[in-house]
Amino acid sequence: NNSIIRVPEPVNEPQFDYAVNSAARSQLKRALSELAAKTIEIPLIIGGREVNTGNRGQVVMPHQHAHKLADYHQAGEEEARMAIQAAMDAKTGWQRLRWEERAAIFLKAAELISGKYRFQINAASMLSTSKNAFQAEIDAACELIDFLRFNVYFAQTIYAEQPLRSSKGTWNYTQYRPLEGFVLAVTPFNFTAIAGNLAAAPAIMGNTVILKPASSSVYTPWLLMQIFKEAGLPDGVINFLPGPGSVVGDVCLASPHLGGVHFTGSTAVFQHIWKTIGKNITSYRAYPRIVGETGGKDFIFAHASADVDSLATACVRGAFEFQGQKCSAASRAYIPESLWPRVRGILETEVGRIKMGPVTDFRNFVNAVIDKGAFDTIRSAIEYAKTAEEAKIVTGGGCDDSQGYFIEPTIILTTNPKFKTMQEEIFGPVLTVYVYPDEDYPETLKTCDETSVYGLTGAIFANDRQAISQAMAALENAAGNFYINDKPTGAVVGQQPFGGARASGTNDKAGAASNLMRWVSPRTIKESF
Ligand code: NAD
Ligand code: ALA
Repeated sequence: NNSIIRVPEPVNEPQFDYAVNSAARSQLKRALSELAAKTIEIPLIIGGREVNTGNRGQVVMPHQHAHKLADYHQAGEEEARMAIQAAMDAKTGWQRLRWEERAAIFLKAAELISGKYRFQINAASMLSTSKNAFQAEIDAACELIDFLRFNVYFAQTIYAEQPLRSSKGTWNYTQYRPLEGFVLAVTPFNFTAIAGNLAAAPAIMGNTVILKPASSSVYTPWLLMQIFKEAGLPDGVINFLPGPGSVVGDVCLASPHLGGVHFTGSTAVFQHIWKTIGKNITSYRAYPRIVGETGGKDFIFAHASADVDSLATACVRGAFEFQGQKCSAASRAYIPESLWPRVRGILETEVGRIKMGPVTDFRNFVNAVIDKGAFDTIRSAIEYAKTAEEAKIVTGGGCDDSQGYFIEPTIILTTNPKFKTMQEEIFGPVLTVYVYPDEDYPETLKTCDETSVYGLTGAIFANDRQAISQAMAALENAAGNFYINDKPTGAVVGQQPFGGARASGTNDKAGAASNLMRWVSPRTIKESF
């Protein structure tokens, strides 16, 4: 399967700006109206065949939850077993294709998203997960396209690698074969790009996949399945299996053919999956590869030398874009006393200007959170802070789920650096700030490192180079993606490989060769002459 054929060097997909009166904005608005006007039915797809189970779940608009967009069929144990069989049956044909042929399918899918389906997938992402147009464009169009193109590009570097020496009379080489068995891709609700990558990365490397979408985010992965089919993906290579995580998960994790798990979601679910695999370990034909990107408690840390304007902007954008429902979202900030009055003033003004409401009004920066479960969790964290002695609300704090799941962008100020909302992931538009005495910079860095179990993203704001160095050393393992004088969100595929350490995941860096290597089982060949 090795090759030296060159695939086109990718560039990041340019973003549409959806400017007022632009043709792109009109097309997106038309797609929004069309999708909102109908209720579609979403089946499972097993071995290329649509399967209806009759056990239905609903896709509603989080910003207007009385409005149903789709009914989707949910898999049970039997369908999970059928999907395993379909994935195993499709393996031989898929592996037999040259890798360039597999690559071409995913490059074509990227083109289809970039052109023909861009507005439709963005509209579906906006309506079904309540993302504003600009956030949908970043996720469901650009990042998804980038994942497909860059993965193909990085796959080439793996297949082209020929570093082995061969002594006289011998020939040594490595074959980068797919894993034995199938890969289970389990996706989170918050990013269409992640769902696409979780399935596509193992498939590009020759594996067949079961794609288990999050129940609150079924619509865009379903569209993606149509796009993969149109791009020429053979039946059974990616099988689409919405349904309860525990049912689909338990059947797939118990299969002796499980070759790997590609997971993004909460730390608790990932740990459950890992434990289940541990329990079943003697029953597998090969040790399953386990790759997981999980929760975060991402920080912004400011030194007294920081630029106040860029720090405050980073707090607002880092915490509240995507309603804070981004694994990388800033959710705790450490601000020196000398800067706090100015930072606070800017935060109050900027947050006061934020518009919140349905995605169909493009002026709304903050939209609804995904569902009732998320709404209740976020609201209870805010209510806890409202009544705690060590905390008070600086801005926001309002929650209203009468029509949609709306939570105001909220800033909590605490006197305790280990306050509950400084430690636990809330996954909503909530930033907790701890103000520290300037002279306690080194100790507070240490506290930041020790406060959370996570290690996903973080940012240091400082102009003093010594202070930056100190932060980089003290927070060495606190963030797999570390930013200097920038917000801790918005990693771009091919520019900042993304992934966290500690309880945030296996840090295999999505959209990079290190991730793709997890989906191959190399075989070293020595031939003697
Ligand atoms: P979640 O853990 O609730 O669900 C993730 C997926 O796991 C869903 O598809 C769910 O159905 C499935 N699942 C649940 N129980 C299962 C089981 N027993 N076996 C197999 N699968 C099971 O997460 P979510 O609410 O969808 O997403 C939010 C979480 O994801 C946050 O913690 C966030 O930080 C994290 N996240 C991390 C990254 C990253 O790159 N680190 C990116 C996005 C989201
Ligand atoms: N890759 C996304 C970010 O960095 C999650 O914000």
